Amino acid sequence: MSPSEAKNRIASLGAELKQHSYSYYVLAMPTISDFDFDKKLEELGRLEKEFPEFADPDSITQKVDGYITKEFITIKHKWPMLSLGNTYNEQELLDFDQRIKKAIGDSFEYVCELKFDGLSMSLTYEDGKLVRAVTRGDGIQGDDVTMNVRTINTIPKRLHTGSYPDHFEIRGEVFMHLKAFERLNTERIENGELPYANPRNFASGTIKMQDSAEVAKRPLDCFLYFLYTDRSLFKTHWESLEAVKSWGFHVNEHSRLCSDINGVFAFIKEWDKRRFDLSYDIDGIVIKVNSLGQQEELGFTAKSPRWAIAYKFKAEQAETELLSVSYQVGRTGAVTPVANLRPVFLAGTTVKRATLHNADEIEVRLKLHEGDWVYVEKGGEIIPKITGVNLDKRKTGAAAISYITHCPACGTLLERKEGEAAFYCLNDEGCPPQIVGKMQHFIDRKAMNIDGLGDETIETLYQKGFISHISDIYSLKDHSDDLKKMDRFGEKSITNMLDGIEKSKEMPFDKVLFGLGIRYVGATVAKKLAVHFKNIDSLASASLEELTTAEEIGERIALSIMEYFANEGHKAEIAKLMAQGLQFASEEKEVTLASNTLAGQTFIISGVFEKYSRDELKDIIEQNGGKIVSSISAKLNYLVAGENMGPAKLEKAQKLNIPIINDDQLLEMIGG
Ligand code: IVH
Repeated sequence: MSPSEAKNRIASLGAELKQHSYSYYVLAMPTISDFDFDKKLEELGRLEKEFPEFADPDSITQKVDGYITKEFITIKHKWPMLSLGNTYNEQELLDFDQRIKKAIGDSFEYVCELKFDGLSMSLTYEDGKLVRAVTRGDGIQGDDVTMNVRTINTIPKRLHTGSYPDHFEIRGEVFMHLKAFERLNTERIENGELPYANPRNFASGTIKMQDSAEVAKRPLDCFLYFLYTDRSLFKTHWESLEAVKSWGFHVNEHSRLCSDINGVFAFIKEWDKRRFDLSYDIDGIVIKVNSLGQQEELGFTAKSPRWAIAYKFKAEQAETELLSVSYQVGRTGAVTPVANLRPVFLAGTTVKRATLHNADEIEVRLKLHEGDWVYVEKGGEIIPKITGVNLDKRKTGAAAISYITHCPACGTLLERKEGEAAFYCLNDEGCPPQIVGKMQHFIDRKAMNIDGLGDETIETLYQKGFISHISDIYSLKDHSDDLKKMDRFGEKSITNMLDGIEKSKEMPFDKVLFGLGIRYVGATVAKKLAVHFKNIDSLASASLEELTTAEEIGERIALSIMEYFANEGHKAEIAKLMAQGLQFASEEKEVTLASNTLAGQTFIISGVFEKYSRDELKDIIEQNGGKIVSSISAKLNYLVAGENMGPAKLEKAQKLNIPIINDDQLLEMIGG
């Protein structure tokens, strides 16, 4: 490479890597695979060595990469949070093993651990209490995210057992399980929000949220993998892992002690296969020298420890041709694009389709053109995604693909609501996939769970003109003779279906409420609403203030509920379902009184609590004779306030001079 070529390459690689690093750390939306990033970083490092005259002193190769976000308090790490050197093949690992042998001789062991694909977190404990949680940031200083980390169930807020030191720091990886990721991401897509590309981004996006109550709704987990203490307490890393496990920390059960590099290779080989059986993503294996004394002897380079290294699995990738883009209309009217691909074999299955999420993915991120050759990658998710385009293979004159303007099912002009990523078809009463989708949602296992009736039958019954509203399902019994005339149905299956429909009338209120398909009202929210409002009339007539006093109900959900019940068609539909005998009220739970201490007193519970959910506190109050009310008035006796309660509520309570107590004070009132 000529010097002028090298100069250009160094400049362009540097700029590109900074951009990717920004997307990764600040936007939490990676624009390149880790593998490609590391390769490019390595190329830049090599060129800078060969042509030091062109190296930028501020180059990304000179830093522990990362960015600091603004909204949190910045905290300097007591011990810098370094990254690990990466390897991708056996040879690089053998080189690592040789380097260690050269420095400390032949007598040492390795600990192999899974490399969890999340975000690293430093936790500080004083006198057994979690006092601080800080993100890695740029490695030197990070964000104080203690409030958010407190919502993670598997991180102990207080240690109960073990002889832990008064002061210590423990580091680990915060991540989201794949199941939770898929569930929450599907909800986001249904709600027209931008989905996260993978569980890691979802976890890091969550940890950086300003509202801890929202964080609490997104289940996160954390594996701890390194202990820092002022005085050395253990001889080996393995011993320290065993100890922290006994103090109550979540330590991964798959770590293994290996006597040499061959043991490490066996571990890697095993987990390259088994990683797909885990309930969370890992992107490699971390190999650490076990003896803490030897770790100290080996020391650090500017960026990473010499006693540890990461072996990264290669994300399985394939290249194939984009044949077309098709569009699916969901029950909410959101129109989702899907890429149809020339079939290609990838990680055990043939891939024919990939999700494209929304218009921005096509037009902004990937800038897809007709006939493009694209890279597909399979992460932990079932549906593969397109990670990039091979521009070398783009045909000259190929037209850019633009997102459609009209509904592919009914031709209505699509609209994008402000602040949302998805386009919607608003013709909900007349657009067939929306009509069918709503009925399919109603009969779904998580909603009314109707035996003998499946998605395909709903589709057929709609096409034959038997049903077009949820309530029509309950009139099918009046058409059993006509149904029997249809060739696809046997008498037995019709009886089963009608029995299943009849039986569904016993399903509890929260399932019915979820089945109605009110926007943003998922299964959990429906449960909370059913508990709080007890019947459909009080829910339908609730004001914005009353709705938002219910647990987990924010303004977005509240407004959607109000909009739903303002619609005459919806009201008529509910009246029909009521007439058919469906459950529109919760069964009254019999409260067994533990005491009468709170008799005659009224309470409102607001905010998030460390030890109890709001529902648990509500039960405690009711079991001791107290009453929960829904809005703040001068008559209210107590406001039980947790962290992060709404400022408006607090202000109103203060104005009215209402005593504000915390959960401990409430428990004291009933004698602990
Ligand atoms: S040890 C100084 N162990 O990988 C060594 N890191 O590329 C500190 N990671 O920043 C790290 N699983 O976020 C260690 N079992 C594990 C890990 C792990 C995932 C992450 C961690 C670190 C990054 C380094």
